[in-house]
Amino acid sequence: MKNVILLGATGSIGIQTLDVIREHPDEFQLMSIAFGKNIKKGMEIIQEFRPRFISVRSKADASLLKERFSEIEIGYGQEGLIQASTYDASNHNQTIVLSALVGSVGLIPTIEAIKKGYDIALANKETLVTAGVLVMEMVEKHHVHLLPVDSEHSAIYQALNGEKTSQINKIIITASGGSFRDKTREELKKVTLKEALNHPNWSMGSKITIDSATMMNKGFEVIEAHHLFQLPYEQIKTLLHRESIIHSMVEFIDTSIIAQLGTPDMRIPIQYALSYPNRLELKRSKRLKLEEIASLHFEVMDFKRYPCLKYAYDAGKTGHSFPTVLNAANEAAVQLFLEEKISFIKIEQIIYDALNKHDIIKYPDLETILSLDRQIKEYIIKNYAKGESS
Ligand SMILES: NC(=O)c1ccc[n+]([C@@H]2O[C@H](COP(=O)([O-])OP(=O)(O)OC[C@H]3O[C@@H](n4cnc5c(N)ncnc54)[C@H](OP(=O)(O)O)[C@@H]3O)[C@@H](O)[C@H]2O)c1
Repeated sequence: MKNVILLGATGSIGIQTLDVIREHPDEFQLMSIAFGKNIKKGMEIIQEFRPRFISVRSKADASLLKERFSEIEIGYGQEGLIQASTYDASNHNQTIVLSALVGSVGLIPTIEAIKKGYDIALANKETLVTAGVLVMEMVEKHHVHLLPVDSEHSAIYQALNGEKTSQINKIIITASGGSFRDKTREELKKVTLKEALNHPNWSMGSKITIDSATMMNKGFEVIEAHHLFQLPYEQIKTLLHRESIIHSMVEFIDTSIIAQLGTPDMRIPIQYALSYPNRLELKRSKRLKLEEIASLHFEVMDFKRYPCLKYAYDAGKTGHSFPTVLNAANEAAVQLFLEEKISFIKIEQIIYDALNKHDIIKYPDLETILSLDRQIKEYIIKNYAKGESS
């Protein structure tokens, strides 16, 4: 029986993780959860799974839950997130933290869980984008497993099972193309929030859906892959693949390619990360029928069409403080777009400006990363409003 600590329980990944736990009550038990403001959904989860610890965003919501569930320990805010992610489980080495908060708020609770010695199933890619070097050092120092939940990285992880990293020629991360894959750059100037939130293949949280439309999500995945698989950026390629059937692949030095295929269902990589190194049945997931799909398509990624992908490669290659700036600027710009304060096309301009203005900070420590993240976000939120640039 594995203890699961679930950060971001009310989100898209969180709910699908609960589905996996529900399907395997003999394998997993929910120990502790954290979520933000969705109290209605949170209460349903608490009633069904009875976790021992709950963390929410505000003190007021924590008091409300305490009245309702007096027997459960409850925390809130940043401190609550840390308490949730490091919750003491009786079977310490059978505990895994599924990190599925959205944005850099996921960084500290994930780091604290690593320090505690808990294995991490990582959905929160922003953790590796903003502080990949530090996080990977901690993973090594505390001898924990870092298992990818992102379907692309799970695919690569599976393709690498039993293989030598030194024998990789390159990894190929596939991209569906997001909501606007058939629009020209000119057409992007007029797109709406509603259109942007309509992803063709995956149903996900709003931030990652926008990141997919700008292709920043793929850029983040490139940086995530660089840290997870310790490969130089030159060996990490991306490929447009509309069907989202091949989730990614590895090409080896002998020209062989190993790919992982499956239906676009996040419960598959979530479950693989939770059950690793075992595989479990996933009864409610549809089996892939290649004869029904008939053909798969691939296209070269166009950096001019998707400048955010180029910014991510550049920021990743430059390293040091640049990936932190990339992540913070993107988070703030996407927030403004979700609040309908800026146009879609403005997102990439804000990120470009932030990267251009930034003077590199070499080898940033955690405090520097957190402070830079805060400063960049505050600056963007304050200075960019509809139609204007600072
Ligand atoms: N969705 C996918 O298919 C997918 C695939 C691969 C990777 N990922 C990655 O997984 C992460 C989660 O994505 P998602 O799509 O599940 O996002 P989501 O649906 O927006 O869910 C985010 C979760 O984080 C919680 N949260 C946000 N801010 C918080 C705060 N300050 N304090 C406490 N809780 C907070 C939310 O709580 P409330 O809603 O209660 O406020 C919610 O439970 C992201 O990093 C994303 O890039 C997602």
